[in-house]
Amino acid sequence: MHLPTAPIEWKTEYNVNISFIDEHHRKFVEILNRILEINNEASCGHNISEAFFSLVYYAEHYLIREQMYLKEYQNFQYHQDLHNQFIDRVTRFQDDFKKGKKNICSDMALYLYEWFENHILNYDKEATAFLKEKGHN
Ligand SMILES: [Fe+2]
Repeated sequence: MHLPTAPIEWKTEYNVNISFIDEHHRKFVEILNRILEINNEASCGHNISEAFFSLVYYAEHYLIREQMYLKEYQNFQYHQDLHNQFIDRVTRFQDDFKKGKKNICSDMALYLYEWFENHILNYDKEATAFLKEKGHN
């Protein structure tokens, strides 16, 4: 998978039409675009702590909130496992950065871009069908 060279622009097809989920996803794209920018500017070392801060915020506020709404979803356990793997991975990026590992910004940008494509546009979309049935909008 290759990283996009320009910032990701939100497309209407990304919407799941449940307002709080769309809001989370747009926020994630903002964070991802910032990390792509940092990576392109090669200013990783100076700006990466801001990126970690945003990702922790995303996990605490958005992933956890999503889970609260998805408790009765048939694939809840699997979905929660994916969220936990995401949190573990971000923590590992943080540890690796502290240890002085190279290429953290580019590795992380790639991982987050994959998360956008695989999780947000795929698993979350699937899960939100469940919320739609429950009458969320
Ligand atoms: Fe999710």
